[in-house]
Order: sequence, then structure tokens, then C-alpha cells
Amino acid sequence: MDKMRLVVPSQQVYITTNPTTNNVRGRMSFIRRLGVGCIILAALGLLYVPAYHSAQGPLFGIGIGEVSPPAETLGAGSNYLDTSVAQISGWTFNTSRNVNLYINPENNTTITSPELSCATSPPYLLIIVCSAVGNQKARVAIRNTWGSEQNLYYLATSSTVNTTVKIVFLLGESTNDTLNAAILDENYEYGDIIQEKFIDTYNNLTVKSVMMLKLVTTMCPQATFLMKTDDDMYVNVPALVKVIRSRPNSAGTLMGSLICNARPISDPKNKWYTPKYMYAEKTYPNYLSGTGYVMSLDVALKLYKAALKTPLLHLEDVYLTGLCAKKAKLRPVNHPGFSYIPRKLDYCVLKSAITAHKVDSSNMYEIWNKLQNTNVSCSNAANSDNTSKSVALLNRHGRHVNYYFTKKRVNNRCS
Ligand SMILES: *[C@@H]1O[C@H](CO)[C@@H](O)[C@H](O)[C@H]1NC(C)=O
Ligand SMILES: *[C@@H]1O[C@H](CO)[C@@H](O)[C@H](O)[C@H]1NC(C)=O
Ligand SMILES: *[C@@H]1O[C@H](CO)[C@@H](O)[C@H](O)[C@H]1NC(C)=O
Ligand SMILES: *[C@@H]1O[C@H](CO)[C@@H](O)[C@H](O)[C@H]1NC(C)=O
Ligand SMILES: *[C@@H]1O[C@H](CO)[C@@H](O)[C@H](O)[C@H]1NC(C)=O
Ligand SMILES: *[C@@H]1O[C@H](CO)[C@@H](O)[C@H](O)[C@H]1NC(C)=O
Ligand SMILES: *[C@@H]1O[C@H](CO)[C@@H](O)[C@H](O)[C@H]1NC(C)=O
Ligand SMILES: *[C@@H]1O[C@H](CO)[C@@H](O)[C@H](O)[C@H]1NC(C)=O
Repeated sequence: MDKMRLVVPSQQVYITTNPTTNNVRGRMSFIRRLGVGCIILAALGLLYVPAYHSAQGPLFGIGIGEVSPPAETLGAGSNYLDTSVAQISGWTFNTSRNVNLYINPENNTTITSPELSCATSPPYLLIIVCSAVGNQKARVAIRNTWGSEQNLYYLATSSTVNTTVKIVFLLGESTNDTLNAAILDENYEYGDIIQEKFIDTYNNLTVKSVMMLKLVTTMCPQATFLMKTDDDMYVNVPALVKVIRSRPNSAGTLMGSLICNARPISDPKNKWYTPKYMYAEKTYPNYLSGTGYVMSLDVALKLYKAALKTPLLHLEDVYLTGLCAKKAKLRPVNHPGFSYIPRKLDYCVLKSAITAHKVDSSNMYEIWNKLQNTNVSCSNAANSDNTSKSVALLNRHGRHVNYYFTKKRVNNRCS
């Protein structure tokens, strides 16, 4: 337990090694802390690395768009079960993991949806924000900031961007009908929610992501790109559009924050516990953080077909951009603009970033307001990718916990 407490902090701070001030001293103390951290970890014999990446890892707790599984069903104490391994809530040993049963590919599973009009006005980029039924506040914040009509109008009409972007929220059903009724009302008012027929829980996020592929490939195959993100993310849509527009070929794109050589977590108390019966291999295929990834529509179709033949894993990003991508012979690629690490709320950092994670509704507005100020000129230093890479995560004991991943990725590739 003590060991766990060291690596499972309940809060975190982030620091940046500011390139212009305190660079040397900041770097020294950073390295010293890292060194001390390594020694302590080694001394504890802590060979286990919390490998399902930390944006969704123990560092952060439950995100705004996520529903926590009931803790008691995860761990030991389920003595009525006849297997020795702890099982996952909703995905026990005997639960079918045949995706077809949950997606129902032949039939319409849409409960409510706006008219996307993709045939008549196809979007260049369709952004699906995976949200939860109860997260109305997060949706309001997105509608008032990066997802606002003002922003989309600017993107569509500015001669430099000139790009049609559509944004919709994707939800499942609640078991509480009061909440489901509120969703119908919300959609009547805003017309930007797609609700699909499955129970919306944290452990069903994979079902949500495959539903996304089903509905995009059936309702909006005319789009060029699809982005999946969550309702606790800030998406710098102009920066994203710039990156995807600059690709010589849209086809074959599967891009985001690449996680290399991550290993399944075998601790049943961990939120990202993966029992052997769900995934038996030592490492996951390289995959993109589920906080935000972009694909072209040809890739969406290939991933969807692969998913219907791939046994479900409850970690949606590992499943879709790792396992299904591998089956479809697609290679996910890293782009440094995507990050699952919370960013410094600084104009020059945010301007060049594509995604920022762990944004609650109040700093959603803060980021948006900062980005409106186009009067600031950023030095190359602050504007470069180095800044986001130097955002380091520290737990409350000051040790660098996320190093494992960034070290394994060199020049956007897994080593
Ligand atoms: C799984 O199903 C088998 C046979 O249907 C049954 O014997 C076993 O008890 C079940 N295991 C669990 C953990 O429910
Ligand atoms: C799907 O639709 C077909 C025909 O409309 C129907 O026969 C079938 O029962 C439906 N399947 C499910 C799982 O609802
Ligand atoms: C599926 O059903 C929903 C709700 O009844 C409806 O709005 C939508 O148009 C249907 N989709 C298709 C492809 O028929
Ligand atoms: C946007 O691009 C389209 C063609 O892709 C072009 O016809 C249109 O004039 C452009 N609009 C602006 C405002 O540049
Ligand atoms: C359903 O949600 C409403 C609104 O949050 C809440 O007041 C009510 O207690 C919930 N009902 C149940 C059965 O959980
Ligand atoms: C996922 O959704 C399906 C379909 O609604 C439901 O039967 C199942 O219980 C849900 N699983 C979890 C883990 O919530
Ligand atoms: C914008 O820049 C101009 C000239 O550099 C300056 O005079 C003005 O005060 C700035 N405005 C804001 C809001 O910072
Ligand atoms: C960023 O990295 C590049 C290449 O490693 C280096 O040349 C440049 O000086 C760095 N910029 C800053 C601000 O550290």
C-alpha cells in the first residue's frame, strides 16, 4: 500500500522549464529530482511501471467525461467468482466481447441525432466529442469556446482557413430516465448531440468509440477527417486544421499523441486494470492517447471493419488505435501538437498546441480568452515544440512520474 501511495498521488502540479529564465537551475533540480526519484523507486524494488499512460493513469483520477466504475466490484472480495483473477465491472470472465453484440451494425441504434447534412455540405473535419450524459456543464463550456458557432464561422469564412468543421457530442444512455429526458431537451435546444443505444459507463467507452465509427461511416462518409476527443479537452481547431491541411495526402491518416511500449496494469485496484483474460500479451501495440486523435475517413472505415472482428478491450484508445489499427495494418503516428499532459495556460504554448487535456469548464474559458488575444508576439523559443515537451509532471513528492513514456519516443517514433 505504501508503495502504491508513492506512485498514485492524488494531486499533481506541473512545471515548465522556462527557456528564457532559470533554465540551467531549473534543469539541474529537475535532473536531481529525477535521479532521487529513480533511486527511491529502485530501492523499493518497484519494477512495475504504471504503464497505461498517465493522462488516463492513476495520476489524474476520474476525468470530467468519465464515470467511475464501482470500486468494490473491481478488486478482491468478489468471492462468488470462480476464477482466481479479479474481474472487471461489466466485463467479467464470461461477458461476451464480440463487438457486434453491442454495436448492432445492421440496425439503426441512434436514439437522437441532429441532421448532419453531410451529403449536401460535407465537412472537411468532423469532431466527435465523447461526453457523458451528466456532463452538461462541460458541453456548455465547449459550445461557448472552441466549439462555438463564432469559431466555426471564422474557420469556414476566413480566406486563410476556409474550412468547414462540424462538432457533435456523442453520448450513450443513462439508466436514469430523468437524465435521458434532459438530453432530449438539450438536443432540442442546441441540436448537437448524438445519443446511441448503449449504457453510458466508463467501462463502455470502447463501445462509444466504435459507435462513433459506425455513425460516421454511415451518416457522414463525405467528411475528409474525423477527430475523436473528450469533453475535458481544449481543441485548438485552427491549429489542427493547419496540420491536417498541410498533409500531402489525407488518406491513411491516424495521428495523435503516440504511446509506446505501454504494458497492461495488473493491479486490480487500478482504474486501468486489465486482467489476463482481456489481454494476455506483455505490451500493448503502440497506440494514440484517447484524449484526442485524428483519422481520415478511409481509416475510420478500416478501423470499423477491424473492430467488428476484434474482441473488445475496455480501454478505448488501446483497443481502437492499437489493436484494431494493427489488425487493419495501419500505423498510428505521433504529432507533437497533441498532448495528454496538462499544458501551461500560456498564450504562446497554447497557440501552437492542438489539444490540451484536463480542462475544466472554467479554464476552458480562460484558454479561449487567451487565444483571442492575437496581439501577443511569441518568440520562437516559447513557440517551439520544446515547450510542450518540457512540461513535466510531478507528483506531490516531486518525482517525475511520466518520464517512462517520453523517453521511449524519439523524433515522433517509438524506439
Ligand atoms: C462462466 O461460465 C461457466 C460455464 O458457463 C461457469 O461454469 C462459470 O461459473 C462462469 N464463471 C464465472 C466467473 O461466472
Ligand atoms: C435488426 O433489424 C432486423 C430487420 O429490421 C430485425 O429483424 C432484427 O431483429 C434487428 N436486430 C436487432 C438486434 O435488433
Ligand atoms: C435512425 O433513427 C433515428 C431516430 O429514430 C433517426 O433520427 C435517424 O434518421 C435514423 N437513421 C437512419 C440512418 O435511418
Ligand atoms: C474556399 O475554398 C473554395 C474551394 O475550396 C473556394 O471556392 C472559395 O472561394 C474559398 N473561399 C474563400 C473565402 O477563400
Ligand atoms: C436521476 O437523476 C436526477 C437528476 O440528477 C436525480 O435527482 C435523481 O435522484 C436520479 N434518480 C435516480 C433513480 O438515481
Ligand atoms: C455496455 O452497454 C451494453 C449495452 O447497453 C450493456 O448491456 C452493458 O451492460 C454495458 N456495459 C458496461 C460495462 O457498462
Ligand atoms: C496591441 O499592440 C499595439 C501595438 O503593438 C499596442 O499599442 C496595443 O496596446 C496592444 N493592445 C493590446 C490589447 O494589448
Ligand atoms: C528546441 O529544440 C531545438 C532542437 O533540439 C533547439 O535547436 C532549440 O534551441 C530548442 N529551443 C529551445 C527554446 O529550447
